[in-house]
Order: sequence, then structure tokens, then C-alpha cells
Amino acid sequence: MTNQERLAALRAAAMEERDPTCSDDVLAVLMQEAARVGAKHILEIGTGRGLTSVALLLQSDACVTTIERDQARIAAARVNFALFGVSDRVTLLEGDAADILPCLEDVFDLIFLDAAKVQYRRFLPECKRLLRAGGVLCADDVLLFSSGVPKKRKMLAQHIVEFLQELQADGDFAAAVLPVGKGLAVARKERAQ
Ligand SMILES: C[S@@+](CC[C@H](N)C(=O)[O-])C[C@H]1O[C@@H](n2cnc3c(N)ncnc32)[C@H](O)[C@@H]1O
Repeated sequence: MTNQERLAALRAAAMEERDPTCSDDVLAVLMQEAARVGAKHILEIGTGRGLTSVALLLQSDACVTTIERDQARIAAARVNFALFGVSDRVTLLEGDAADILPCLEDVFDLIFLDAAKVQYRRFLPECKRLLRAGGVLCADDVLLFSSGVPKKRKMLAQHIVEFLQELQADGDFAAAVLPVGKGLAVARKERAQ
């Protein structure tokens, strides 16, 4: 079995077990964007089991910095990074992105925002700060409630709406929402802030 086949099988298993990893069509856009911007340094906020990081690492010689706060997923991601032989190109930062993002000094070519949706808006200024001009921010699940908002999710849905409004109103970003997965915002940073 090739690495790609093994990865596809692990991704399919994760999705079947409802352990979060981005959908195949979202991954395809991420890989396309990474190639388009010639991404050498990628930031992922929300590692999960590390399967999206692995896919991005297998397609190029990029490095990934990824942030995860859940101990079980951190352990699973470390196993997956070792399994695919990419550990030396991954920096897995353990903890809450709210605490970690302000401490980062690197500049990234692509940022994949895939953590708690309620925090997207809060993380937007940090994503903007950490993204190089010409780089791209991808935020997953932004159309999570496009076909209706359950009563208990109204607040979360409002947070996502406000995140999208802020992103689209920001003149430094050219943003579009693609109908892949549960909605992927793809925002190119046009100029340095
Ligand atoms: C959708 S999953 C990530 C899936 C992964 N990006 C992939 O495509 O394989 C979201 C992950 O973000 C983590 N997470 C949520 N909010 C976070 C935060 N504020 N800081 C760090 N990790 C967070 C969750 O524990 C969960 O593992």
C-alpha cells in the first residue's frame, strides 16, 4: 500500500468514526492552495489526529506547525506523524490556540483554521498577523448552519456569521466561501498590514 492509500484509508476510518478530520473536497482545496502559494510553512489550528497535516506534508517539502489542546488527539497525531515519517517536519504545539497564537513569531504561507468555531473571530487578528502578504487563510465549516440553526446552536451560528462578516469586510483580504465540506472560507491576504 502506498502512503497515499494508507492515508486515504485512515481518513476514511476517522470520518466513519466521526473523529473530526476535514472532508476530501476540503483537503483537495487545501492542497491546491498550498501548491498555488508555494507553501513552505503551514499553520494548522486544530490538529485532530494529524491527518490533514500528513496529507499536506506528503505532497511537498513544507513544514507544518499545528496546535492541539486535546491530549488523546495529540497522542494520536504524534503516532500518525511517526507512521508517515513526517515528524521531523512537524511542530506540534500542545495547548489552547488562544494562548499559543499570540506567542508565535513565524510567518506562514497558508493557515488552516479548523478549531472550535466559536473562537474563529477571536483568532482572526492573529491569523492575519501571522500570514504573509500573498498567503492564504482557509477556515473550515463556515456554512455549518446554512440549512437551518438548531435552537441550542444560535450563539455559535452567530459567531460564525460575525467571523465571515469581519473577514469579508477586511480590505486586506480577498475572501470567498467555497461550497466544499461544510463550507470553506478561502481568504488571500492582499498586502502586509
Ligand atoms: C475538526 S478537528 C481538526 C481536524 C484536523 N484539522 C484535520 O483536518 O485532520 C478540530 C480540532 O481542534 C481542536 N481544538 C478546538 N479548539 C481548539 C483550541 N482553541 N486550541 C487548540 N485546539 C483546539 C479540537 O480538540 C479538535 O481536535
